[in-house]
Amino acid sequence: QTVLRGKDFISLQDWSKEEVDTLLDVSFDLKRKFAMGIDTPYLQNKTAMLMFFEESTRTRNSMEAGLAQLGGHANFLDTSTMQVNHGEVAKDTGVILGSFGHAIACRNCFWGEGNGNEYLRSLAEHAPVPIMNLQCNLYHPMQGLADLMTIQEKKEETKELNVSIIWAYATSHKKPISVPVTQALLFPRYSMNVTVAHPEGFELPDWVLKQAEENAKKHGGSFKVTNNMEEAYQNADIVIPKNWGSWVNHPDGGEELLEANKDWKCSEEMMELAKDDVSYMHALPADRGNEVEDSVIDGPHSIVYDEAENRLHTAKAVMTVTMGGKG
Ligand code: CP
Repeated sequence: QTVLRGKDFISLQDWSKEEVDTLLDVSFDLKRKFAMGIDTPYLQNKTAMLMFFEESTRTRNSMEAGLAQLGGHANFLDTSTMQVNHGEVAKDTGVILGSFGHAIACRNCFWGEGNGNEYLRSLAEHAPVPIMNLQCNLYHPMQGLADLMTIQEKKEETKELNVSIIWAYATSHKKPISVPVTQALLFPRYSMNVTVAHPEGFELPDWVLKQAEENAKKHGGSFKVTNNMEEAYQNADIVIPKNWGSWVNHPDGGEELLEANKDWKCSEEMMELAKDDVSYMHALPADRGNEVEDSVIDGPHSIVYDEAENRLHTAKAVMTVTMGGKG
Protein backbone atom coordinates (compact mmCIF):
# COMPACT_ATOMS: atom_id res chain seq x y z
CA GLN A 1 0.00 0.00 0.00
CA THR A 2 1.39 3.36 -0.99
CA VAL A 3 0.54 6.33 1.22
CA LEU A 4 2.48 9.37 0.13
CA ARG A 5 0.27 12.04 1.63
CA GLY A 6 2.38 14.52 3.59
CA LYS A 7 5.73 13.31 2.17
CA ASP A 8 8.26 16.03 1.41
CA PHE A 9 9.47 16.22 -2.19
CA ILE A 10 12.94 17.73 -1.82
CA SER A 11 15.13 15.17 -3.58
CA LEU A 12 14.14 12.12 -5.62
CA GLN A 13 16.86 10.32 -3.65
CA ASP A 14 14.44 10.52 -0.67
CA TRP A 15 11.83 8.58 -2.68
CA SER A 16 12.12 4.85 -3.29
CA LYS A 17 11.98 3.60 -6.87
CA GLU A 18 8.48 2.23 -6.22
CA GLU A 19 7.39 5.67 -5.01
CA VAL A 20 8.89 7.38 -8.08
CA ASP A 21 7.08 4.80 -10.23
CA THR A 22 3.82 5.79 -8.53
CA LEU A 23 4.50 9.45 -9.40
CA LEU A 24 5.09 8.46 -13.02
CA ASP A 25 1.90 6.36 -13.14
CA VAL A 26 -0.12 9.28 -11.78
CA SER A 27 1.60 11.67 -14.23
CA PHE A 28 0.66 9.52 -17.24
CA ASP A 29 -2.91 9.16 -15.93
CA LEU A 30 -3.28 12.92 -15.42
CA LYS A 31 -1.82 13.59 -18.87
CA ARG A 32 -4.34 11.26 -20.53
CA LYS A 33 -7.23 12.83 -18.62
CA PHE A 34 -6.04 16.35 -19.48
CA ALA A 35 -5.94 15.40 -23.18
CA MET A 36 -9.47 13.97 -22.98
CA GLY A 37 -10.90 16.91 -21.03
CA ILE A 38 -11.74 14.73 -18.02
CA ASP A 39 -11.99 16.70 -14.78
CA THR A 40 -9.49 15.79 -12.04
CA PRO A 41 -10.74 17.59 -8.90
CA TYR A 42 -8.39 15.70 -6.55
CA LEU A 43 -7.34 18.75 -4.54
CA GLN A 44 -10.56 20.70 -4.18
CA ASN A 45 -10.27 23.62 -1.74
CA LYS A 46 -6.58 22.86 -1.12
CA THR A 47 -3.99 25.62 -1.17
CA ALA A 48 -0.27 25.49 -1.89
CA MET A 49 2.06 28.38 -1.07
CA LEU A 50 4.64 28.90 -3.83
CA MET A 51 7.70 30.77 -2.57
CA PHE A 52 10.04 31.97 -5.30
CA PHE A 53 13.44 33.48 -4.48
CA GLU A 54 14.24 33.49 -8.24
CA GLU A 55 12.51 33.90 -11.58
CA SER A 56 10.65 31.07 -13.29
CA THR A 57 8.52 30.39 -16.35
CA ARG A 58 7.92 26.63 -16.42
CA THR A 59 7.98 25.82 -12.71
CA ARG A 60 5.72 28.63 -11.53
CA ASN A 61 3.16 28.18 -14.28
CA SER A 62 3.05 24.39 -14.18
CA MET A 63 2.34 24.59 -10.44
CA GLU A 64 -0.26 27.38 -10.70
CA ALA A 65 -2.07 25.96 -13.74
CA GLY A 66 -1.74 22.43 -12.36
CA LEU A 67 -3.29 23.20 -9.00
CA ALA A 68 -6.16 25.10 -10.64
CA GLN A 69 -6.80 22.03 -12.82
CA LEU A 70 -6.87 19.89 -9.68
CA GLY A 71 -9.50 22.13 -8.11
CA GLY A 72 -7.19 23.92 -5.70
CA HIS A 73 -5.47 27.27 -5.47
CA ALA A 74 -1.81 28.34 -5.58
CA ASN A 75 -0.60 31.44 -3.74
CA PHE A 76 2.32 32.87 -5.68
CA LEU A 77 4.79 34.45 -3.24
CA ASP A 78 7.63 36.62 -4.52
CA THR A 79 10.00 36.38 -1.56
CA SER A 80 11.35 39.90 -2.20
CA THR A 81 7.95 41.09 -0.93
CA MET A 82 7.97 38.79 2.13
CA GLN A 83 9.45 39.19 5.60
CA VAL A 84 12.06 36.57 4.72
CA ASN A 85 13.62 39.50 2.87
CA HIS A 86 14.02 41.15 6.27
CA GLY A 87 15.53 38.03 7.82
CA GLU A 88 12.51 36.03 9.00
CA VAL A 89 13.74 32.47 9.53
CA ALA A 90 12.50 29.40 7.66
CA LYS A 91 10.96 27.97 10.85
CA ASP A 92 8.65 30.95 11.41
CA THR A 93 7.68 31.22 7.74
CA GLY A 94 7.10 27.46 7.45
CA VAL A 95 4.95 27.11 10.56
CA ILE A 96 2.76 30.09 9.63
CA LEU A 97 2.31 29.34 5.92
CA GLY A 98 1.71 25.70 6.78
CA SER A 99 -1.15 26.69 9.07
CA PHE A 100 -2.80 28.62 6.20
CA GLY A 101 -2.75 25.85 3.61
CA HIS A 102 -1.86 22.31 2.60
CA ALA A 103 1.66 22.53 1.14
CA ILE A 104 4.63 24.85 0.75
CA ALA A 105 6.65 24.79 -2.45
CA CYS A 106 9.87 26.76 -2.72
CA ARG A 107 12.60 27.74 -5.19
CA ASN A 108 15.82 28.85 -3.52
CA CYS A 109 18.94 28.23 -5.60
CA PHE A 110 21.34 30.29 -3.51
CA TRP A 111 24.53 28.86 -2.04
CA GLY A 112 25.56 29.67 1.49
CA GLU A 113 24.56 28.94 5.04
CA GLY A 114 20.81 28.70 5.53
CA ASN A 115 20.12 28.98 1.78
CA GLY A 116 19.21 26.59 -1.00
CA ASN A 117 18.72 23.00 0.12
CA GLU A 118 19.33 23.99 3.76
CA TYR A 119 16.41 26.44 3.59
CA LEU A 120 14.11 23.74 2.21
CA ARG A 121 15.20 21.19 4.81
CA SER A 122 14.54 23.76 7.52
CA LEU A 123 11.04 24.41 6.16
CA ALA A 124 10.47 20.64 6.13
CA GLU A 125 11.64 20.25 9.73
CA HIS A 126 9.15 22.76 11.07
CA ALA A 127 6.17 23.11 8.71
CA PRO A 128 3.14 20.89 9.34
CA VAL A 129 2.59 20.34 5.59
CA PRO A 130 4.59 18.72 2.75
CA ILE A 131 7.45 20.77 1.29
CA MET A 132 8.08 20.67 -2.46
CA ASN A 133 11.39 21.64 -3.98
CA LEU A 134 10.89 23.89 -7.01
CA GLN A 135 14.68 23.92 -7.53
CA CYS A 136 17.45 24.52 -5.05
CA ASN A 137 21.21 24.74 -5.41
CA LEU A 138 21.52 20.93 -5.42
CA TYR A 139 18.34 19.38 -6.79
CA HIS A 140 15.52 20.02 -9.25
CA PRO A 141 13.26 17.00 -8.67
CA MET A 142 10.27 18.42 -10.57
CA GLN A 143 12.51 18.72 -13.64
CA GLY A 144 14.05 15.29 -13.12
CA LEU A 145 10.65 13.63 -12.94
CA ALA A 146 9.46 15.36 -16.13
CA ASP A 147 12.70 14.34 -17.87
CA LEU A 148 12.20 10.71 -16.86
CA MET A 149 8.57 10.74 -18.02
CA THR A 150 9.65 12.19 -21.37
CA ILE A 151 12.35 9.55 -21.83
CA GLN A 152 9.84 6.79 -21.05
CA GLU A 153 7.43 8.25 -23.61
CA LYS A 154 9.98 8.65 -26.35
CA LYS A 155 12.15 5.58 -25.84
CA GLU A 156 9.75 3.20 -24.07
CA GLU A 157 12.51 1.03 -22.56
CA THR A 158 15.01 2.89 -20.36
CA LYS A 159 17.27 -0.11 -19.69
CA GLU A 160 20.69 0.33 -21.33
CA LEU A 161 19.82 3.64 -22.98
CA ASN A 162 22.99 5.65 -23.52
CA VAL A 163 22.29 9.01 -21.90
CA SER A 164 24.89 11.78 -21.85
CA ILE A 165 24.64 14.72 -19.48
CA ILE A 166 27.01 17.26 -21.00
CA TRP A 167 28.24 20.56 -19.63
CA ALA A 168 27.70 23.36 -22.16
CA TYR A 169 29.10 26.84 -22.44
CA ALA A 170 27.09 29.69 -20.93
CA THR A 171 27.67 33.39 -20.47
CA SER A 172 27.81 33.10 -16.67
CA HIS A 173 29.33 30.50 -14.36
CA LYS A 174 27.00 31.34 -11.48
CA LYS A 175 24.52 28.54 -12.12
CA PRO A 176 23.04 25.95 -9.78
CA ILE A 177 24.10 22.34 -10.40
CA SER A 178 20.61 21.08 -9.59
CA VAL A 179 19.63 19.75 -13.03
CA PRO A 180 22.73 17.64 -13.80
CA VAL A 181 22.89 16.40 -10.20
CA THR A 182 19.25 15.29 -10.28
CA GLN A 183 19.66 13.55 -13.64
CA ALA A 184 22.98 11.91 -12.70
CA LEU A 185 21.41 10.43 -9.57
CA LEU A 186 18.04 9.47 -11.08
CA PHE A 187 18.79 7.94 -14.47
CA PRO A 188 21.06 5.12 -13.22
CA ARG A 189 18.15 4.02 -11.00
CA TYR A 190 16.31 3.28 -14.27
CA SER A 191 19.20 1.13 -15.58
CA MET A 192 20.45 3.72 -18.08
CA ASN A 193 24.10 3.95 -19.11
CA VAL A 194 24.87 7.48 -17.96
CA THR A 195 27.86 9.52 -19.07
CA VAL A 196 28.61 12.87 -17.47
CA ALA A 197 30.91 15.03 -19.62
CA HIS A 198 32.45 18.38 -18.81
CA PRO A 199 35.68 20.34 -19.20
CA GLU A 200 38.16 20.14 -16.34
CA GLY A 201 37.08 22.53 -13.60
CA PHE A 202 33.34 21.85 -13.86
CA GLU A 203 33.28 18.70 -11.73
CA LEU A 204 30.15 17.67 -9.88
CA PRO A 205 30.75 17.08 -6.15
CA ASP A 206 32.35 13.75 -5.17
CA TRP A 207 29.31 12.69 -3.14
CA VAL A 208 27.15 12.98 -6.28
CA LEU A 209 29.52 10.78 -8.30
CA LYS A 210 29.67 8.21 -5.50
CA GLN A 211 25.90 8.11 -5.10
CA ALA A 212 25.36 7.90 -8.89
CA GLU A 213 27.79 4.94 -9.06
CA GLU A 214 25.97 3.21 -6.21
CA ASN A 215 22.63 3.78 -7.93
CA ALA A 216 24.00 2.29 -11.16
CA LYS A 217 25.42 -0.73 -9.37
CA LYS A 218 22.13 -1.40 -7.59
CA HIS A 219 19.93 -1.08 -10.67
CA GLY A 220 22.08 -2.57 -13.44
CA GLY A 221 23.00 0.65 -15.23
CA SER A 222 26.38 2.25 -15.56
CA PHE A 223 27.89 5.62 -14.71
CA LYS A 224 31.06 7.27 -15.96
CA VAL A 225 32.64 10.71 -16.21
CA THR A 226 34.71 12.05 -19.10
CA ASN A 227 36.39 15.33 -20.08
CA ASN A 228 36.01 14.42 -23.76
CA MET A 229 32.95 16.04 -25.35
CA GLU A 230 33.02 13.92 -28.50
CA GLU A 231 33.06 10.71 -26.48
CA ALA A 232 29.82 11.77 -24.79
CA TYR A 233 28.02 12.24 -28.12
CA GLN A 234 29.27 9.01 -29.70
CA ASN A 235 26.53 6.35 -29.84
CA ALA A 236 24.23 8.35 -27.52
CA ASP A 237 20.47 7.71 -27.47
CA ILE A 238 19.85 10.92 -25.54
CA VAL A 239 22.04 13.99 -25.12
CA ILE A 240 21.36 16.62 -22.48
CA PRO A 241 23.86 19.44 -22.96
CA LYS A 242 23.27 22.21 -20.46
CA ASN A 243 25.39 24.83 -18.80
CA TRP A 244 25.98 24.28 -15.13
CA GLY A 245 27.94 26.18 -12.58
CA SER A 246 31.55 26.01 -11.64
CA TRP A 247 30.47 27.95 -8.60
CA VAL A 248 31.18 25.11 -6.19
CA ASN A 249 34.81 24.78 -7.23
CA HIS A 250 35.55 28.21 -8.57
CA PRO A 251 33.69 30.91 -6.66
CA ASP A 252 36.13 33.60 -7.84
CA GLY A 253 37.82 32.38 -11.00
CA GLY A 254 34.91 31.01 -13.03
CA GLU A 255 34.92 33.54 -15.87
CA GLU A 256 38.36 32.66 -17.21
CA LEU A 257 37.59 28.97 -17.10
CA LEU A 258 34.31 29.61 -18.87
CA GLU A 259 35.98 31.64 -21.63
CA ALA A 260 38.50 28.85 -22.22
CA ASN A 261 35.73 26.33 -22.90
CA LYS A 262 33.54 28.14 -25.42
CA ASP A 263 33.80 25.20 -27.80
CA TRP A 264 31.60 23.11 -25.48
CA LYS A 265 28.54 23.81 -27.60
CA CYS A 266 25.88 21.41 -28.85
CA SER A 267 26.26 21.59 -32.62
CA GLU A 268 24.96 19.65 -35.62
CA GLU A 269 28.50 18.29 -36.00
CA MET A 270 28.36 16.81 -32.49
CA MET A 271 24.84 15.44 -33.01
CA GLU A 272 26.15 13.55 -36.08
CA LEU A 273 28.27 11.43 -33.72
CA ALA A 274 25.19 10.14 -31.86
CA LYS A 275 22.72 7.45 -32.91
CA ASP A 276 20.43 8.28 -35.85
CA ASP A 277 17.40 8.53 -33.56
CA VAL A 278 19.15 10.50 -30.82
CA SER A 279 16.99 12.88 -28.78
CA TYR A 280 18.15 16.30 -27.64
CA MET A 281 16.81 17.41 -24.25
CA HIS A 282 17.16 20.63 -22.27
CA ALA A 283 15.37 21.80 -19.14
CA LEU A 284 15.14 25.34 -20.60
CA PRO A 285 15.68 28.23 -20.67
CA ALA A 286 18.48 27.57 -23.16
CA ASP A 287 21.29 29.98 -23.89
CA ARG A 288 20.72 29.77 -27.66
CA GLY A 289 23.79 30.41 -29.79
CA ASN A 290 26.15 29.88 -26.88
CA GLU A 291 25.29 26.44 -25.53
CA VAL A 292 23.33 25.08 -28.51
CA GLU A 293 22.90 25.89 -32.19
CA ASP A 294 19.37 26.93 -33.20
CA SER A 295 19.37 24.21 -35.86
CA VAL A 296 19.70 21.58 -33.10
CA ILE A 297 17.22 22.91 -30.55
CA ASP A 298 14.71 23.63 -33.36
CA GLY A 299 15.66 20.50 -35.29
CA PRO A 300 14.11 17.04 -35.68
CA HIS A 301 15.94 15.48 -32.71
CA SER A 302 14.81 18.09 -30.21
CA ILE A 303 12.15 17.05 -27.68
CA VAL A 304 12.48 20.11 -25.46
CA TYR A 305 8.84 21.20 -25.79
CA ASP A 306 7.53 17.72 -24.90
CA GLU A 307 9.89 17.78 -21.91
CA ALA A 308 8.61 21.20 -20.82
CA GLU A 309 4.97 20.16 -21.31
CA ASN A 310 5.51 17.20 -19.02
CA ARG A 311 6.41 19.63 -16.25
CA LEU A 312 2.65 20.25 -15.94
CA HIS A 313 1.66 16.62 -15.61
CA THR A 314 4.45 15.67 -13.23
CA ALA A 315 3.85 18.75 -11.03
CA LYS A 316 0.18 17.75 -10.81
CA ALA A 317 1.18 14.21 -9.86
CA VAL A 318 3.49 15.37 -7.07
CA MET A 319 0.81 17.69 -5.66
CA THR A 320 -1.91 15.02 -5.97
CA VAL A 321 -0.03 12.34 -4.05
CA THR A 322 1.54 14.60 -1.39
CA MET A 323 -1.44 16.91 -0.76
CA GLY A 324 -4.27 14.47 -1.46
CA GLY A 325 -4.82 10.76 -1.18
CA LYS A 326 -5.64 8.77 1.92
CA GLY A 327 -5.00 10.35 5.27
N1 CP B 1 13.31 24.29 -16.21
C1 CP B 1 12.87 25.21 -15.32
O1 CP B 1 12.88 25.00 -14.11
O2 CP B 1 12.35 26.34 -15.91
P1 CP B 1 11.97 27.67 -15.12
O3 CP B 1 13.23 28.25 -14.56
O4 CP B 1 11.34 28.57 -16.15
O5 CP B 1 10.99 27.33 -14.03
